[in-house]
Formats: sequence, structure tokens, C-alpha cells
Amino acid sequence: MVVSIKASILENKKILPDFYRLKIAVPQISKTAVPGQFVMIKTSSTLDPLLRRPISLHRINRDVGTIELVYQVLGKGTILLSEMVQGELEVMGPLGNGFSWQQSFKRTAIVGGGCGIAPLLTLAEHLIGNGQEVHVLLGAQNKEKLLNEADFKELGCKVLVATDNGSSGRKGFVTEILEELISTTNLDQVYCCGPLPMTNGVIKLTKSKMIPCQVSLEERMACGIGACLGCVCQVRNEDGTIGYKRVCHEGPVFNASELIFEKD
Ligand SMILES: Cc1cc2nc3c(=O)[nH]c(=O)nc-3n(C[C@H](O)[C@H](O)[C@H](O)COP(=O)(O)OP(=O)(O)OC[C@H]3O[C@@H](n4cnc5c(N)ncnc54)[C@H](O)[C@@H]3O)c2cc1C
Ligand code: FES
Repeated sequence: MVVSIKASILENKKILPDFYRLKIAVPQISKTAVPGQFVMIKTSSTLDPLLRRPISLHRINRDVGTIELVYQVLGKGTILLSEMVQGELEVMGPLGNGFSWQQSFKRTAIVGGGCGIAPLLTLAEHLIGNGQEVHVLLGAQNKEKLLNEADFKELGCKVLVATDNGSSGRKGFVTEILEELISTTNLDQVYCCGPLPMTNGVIKLTKSKMIPCQVSLEERMACGIGACLGCVCQVRNEDGTIGYKRVCHEGPVFNASELIFEKD
């Protein structure tokens, strides 16, 4: 059930030059939340900015009733959020559908880029808990913007990194590593979240090799609950016609096979 509540801030800490980790007490949200879902956060006590900001669940700590979010400081909303060190903030969630997996999966790959890496840690935790071999491919502009490499390793994932400038891992794109992995490893499923060019590359690769792929989209949002139609994406319906789905409500996770990107 979606709730809108005031949550106590337990931690709001800079973890990289542009990134913060926020931990809040929300037992009502953590008890039902699943990987891939998100919350809408009010980042100011005034009407400016008016709209809540969507941030994905980074860790779901059901036993202690908390969630953790990792966010990149970009504009007005996230600057204000980074200044909230104690007290309460208004949060609505859990929202969206989340990732899915099957007990029978043996080997999966997770591909994350930039702040799109944030929602993939809790997914990896669940896949590892399901007994899978999990390959994690992380992409970033440089090592100062590379999230969670050590956390994925600690979970027991096999981690490979690509950065645009070669400051960590391979110099190049994370899609190049995925192409090599696909050629040597039988994957049951690929999961992806990151910038659109990366997502587009992952979809093309997995489609060409007929590997199922789930993609989390980070479309700009207004209401976050399916009411304003401000976040629609184009999809191909089962009968082949073109339709629209709301990223906040039917997503943010979609099967790659149903998404239509401009470059298709
Ligand atoms: C479902 C969902 C989950 C998300 N999860 C995370 C997360 O876990 N961590 C995280 O760091 N960010 C996440 N985002 C993106 C985050 O919501 C935006 O970065 C944030 O709303 C920016 O707010 P702002 O007021 O700081 O910036 P604004 O002042 O609104 O914008 C600053 C700049 O960022 C760009 N921008 C804003 N929103 C987006 C967006 N959604 N996609 C691409 N560019 C954008 C703007 O075009 C502008 O150039 C998520 C977005 C969605 C829709
Ligand atoms: S943000 Fe309003 S419908 Fe999705």
C-alpha cells in the first residue's frame, strides 16, 4: 500500500563528491517495498520546489524499518535535500512496480550507469539471496562518480567496471563489457538502469542475442502516482500497435521487448 508520511532522517551523508546516502525510518514503506520501486520526496518545507523528487530504493532494511536512498546532487531539489541533516521529511511510497526474477534463474547480469546504479544494489542482494551467480557491470564518467563497487563485491557479485576516462576499470563503455560477457556466459536475464544511450545499447545487445532484459527508466516525473500523464513512454502492445505507459505507475521497470526508443 502506498503511504505518504513524515519520516525521521537517520543519516544524510556525502559518499562521493556529487552523491549522498540518505537513511530514513519508514517501517510502513520498508515492510512491503521491493527492489526497483521508488519514493517521492518533498525536498523543502515551502512550495518551492513544488514537485516532489523521485528517488529509487537503494537498500530496504525491513527488519529495522528503514530504507536507504543514494542520490546525485543535480539541481534545486537535490541541493535542498543534501542540506537536510536532521528532523523529518515528507515521503510517499513505495511507488512503481519493481524488478522481478524466477527461482529457476542460475546466472544474471546487472548493468548500471551513473546514478542508475543506486537501485541495483538491493536487486543484487535479492538475486544473490536467491542463489544466483550475479555479474555486475558498472559504468561511470570517472572513478569519483562510480557508485557501490565495493558493496556489490561484498555481496558476492562478480563486478566489472568501465569509465569514460579509464580512471577505474576499463576505459570505454559498459556495453562493451556486456557484449563480451554475453559471448562467454549463458545469462537467464539482464537488468539495466542508467543513462538512455547506455540503456539503448543494452536493449539492442540483449534483443540481438534473445536474452530477456528488464529496464528501469528514470523519466522526469510530476505526480508519481499515475495521475498527470507527465511521464509516459512509448510501448509496443501485444497486438503490435503502439501505445503509452506511465513510467511511475506501470513502470519504472519494463521488459525491454515492449519499449520503443526513438532510435528503434
Ligand atoms: C523512478 C525514478 C527513480 C530515480 N532514482 C534516482 C536515484 O536513485 N538516484 C538519483 O540520483 N536520481 C534518481 N532519479 C533522478 C532524480 O529524480 C532527479 O535527479 C531529481 O529529481 C533531480 O531533481 P533536482 O531538483 O535536483 O534537479 P532539477 O533542478 O529538477 O534538474 C537538474 C538537472 O537534472 C536533470 N534531470 C532532472 N530529473 C531528471 C531525470 N529524472 N532524468 C534525467 N535528468 C534529470 C534536469 O534536466 C536538469 O538538467 C530518479 C528518477 C526517477 C524518475
Ligand atoms: S508522474 Fe504523473 S503520471 Fe507519472
